[in-house]
Amino acid sequence: MKSPIFAANWKMHHGPSDATTFMRSFLAHSPRRSDRTVLIFPPALSVAAVVASLHERQDVLVGVQNIHWEDKGAFTGEVSAGIARDAGARVALVGHSERRHVFGETDEETALKCAAAARAGLTPMLCVGELLSEREAGETAAVVLRQLHAGLSRLEPGQLTSLAIAYEPVWAIGTGKTATPDDAATVHAVLRKALRELAGERGAKVPILYGGSVNRGNVSELLAARDVDGVLVGGASLDATGWSAIVGS
Ligand code: 13P
Repeated sequence: MKSPIFAANWKMHHGPSDATTFMRSFLAHSPRRSDRTVLIFPPALSVAAVVASLHERQDVLVGVQNIHWEDKGAFTGEVSAGIARDAGARVALVGHSERRHVFGETDEETALKCAAAARAGLTPMLCVGELLSEREAGETAAVVLRQLHAGLSRLEPGQLTSLAIAYEPVWAIGTGKTATPDDAATVHAVLRKALRELAGERGAKVPILYGGSVNRGNVSELLAARDVDGVLVGGASLDATGWSAIVGS
């Protein structure tokens, strides 16, 4: 994935019909660019609609917001990495803060999911981020490092370079409170150092995205911050015109 990476997390918005309408408008407003990566995480049931709308635009990548860690079996309601890959996804979000804090996903589950994604040929995008109380207690670096090491613990050494990290401070998600570019750069530097220690210079090249109340007004200054290789956008990615403007920043 070429940096900067512009990733849209639609969360539980845009069913297949809306997704098709969105993509028509977005593609009309966003010419192909070779100097960046555009990635869309629709709800699982809308992945096929987004993939179908991209038949002439292989430059836009599609991902899933979550996967199960088993390859197949009696897990009603779940989607495996292999099924996601077969549907056209290339990336899997793992450990998004809503998975952790609304659905109780554990560090161990994020490790299993990263391994399952890699096994199926999907790029895992591991999300890390601290709660407001953890930030106020001075624990930000310890929390994101724990999540990083745990989440990557089941990857083979050779898989440690085919991944992405998203730093999303929980207090900045959907709240309108954005980390300052300096806040983001500080945490990204901690993550970069850890990735270098884990996998050398190739590990240091793993893209690290920032997410949390990113919008048209703040995207450029966040992308200009040191060690910020992209953005993961929730609310501001839901409108095709607004998302085109962000991607064109
Ligand atoms: P918002 O951009 O709505 O704050 O959401 C961020 C996010 O969770 C992206 O994964």
